[in-house]
Amino acid sequence: MQLFKKISFQLVSNNNLDLKFLRIYRWTPSNPTITHFSTHPIHTKNCGPMVLDALIKIKDEQDSSIAFRRSCREGICGSCSMNINGTNTLACLQPLNINTRTITIYPLPHMYIIKDLVPDLSNFYAQYKYIKPWLINNTPSKTEYLQSEKDRSELNGIYECILCACCSASCPSYWWNHDKYLGPAILLQAYRWLADSRDIKTQDRLALLGGKSKLFKCHTIMNCSRTCPKSLNPGKAIASIKHSISNS
Ligand code: SF4
Ligand code: F3S
Ligand code: FES
Repeated sequence: MQLFKKISFQLVSNNNLDLKFLRIYRWTPSNPTITHFSTHPIHTKNCGPMVLDALIKIKDEQDSSIAFRRSCREGICGSCSMNINGTNTLACLQPLNINTRTITIYPLPHMYIIKDLVPDLSNFYAQYKYIKPWLINNTPSKTEYLQSEKDRSELNGIYECILCACCSASCPSYWWNHDKYLGPAILLQAYRWLADSRDIKTQDRLALLGGKSKLFKCHTIMNCSRTCPKSLNPGKAIASIKHSISNS
């Protein structure tokens, strides 16, 4: 009997190894009281290797009404961020070959939704604008503003941020205070300019982050650093800003 069970299990699993189901959160503003999931079979052998490939194939062949963002499909533009099997990540970097038959996909959590997997990032980008994400240097230069190799190396692990918002959408402090707290993605970007040897507005930038909420609502929970699909460490950047403010 046990042998029979084992053999039949192998038959079932071998027969279906390449079959997955994408279970996708659906909501549309034209029918706002209804949320549901649509479930779509996908044969991994007939599809590209990543979850984004499967989403594009499903939209092309099964349901053209599914809404999601994507552009580069190479982990560079940051637009395909979503919650896949409980983790905020980039659909174009997440292999379909996950250890579950059904892959459940939600939009980034605790964000307002425009449709299906598309979050409203208006607040996120307003916060980005607030930190003045550009070089401020009043000394005219006819060429580039040069840096030593050592000063340039201070930007490693920061400049790679693609503003996907996976970290901010994983931070409980940001979930509850996103109208006041800037969140890990924007604070990592703020640190990117604080750490830049060519920028002259360090004190002004620190003043922008002062007070109880914008920075200090970070309680070192570190979900942000655990979830970053680019393996960056926004929690460490936030600690560095706190240290600079305490010493300024
Ligand atoms: Fe995305 Fe990582 Fe940048 Fe956060 S720190 S926005 S998770 S790339
Ligand atoms: Fe949130 Fe990361 Fe701080 S998860 S509380 S921003 S260390
Ligand atoms: Fe650009 Fe995924 S499509 S990061």
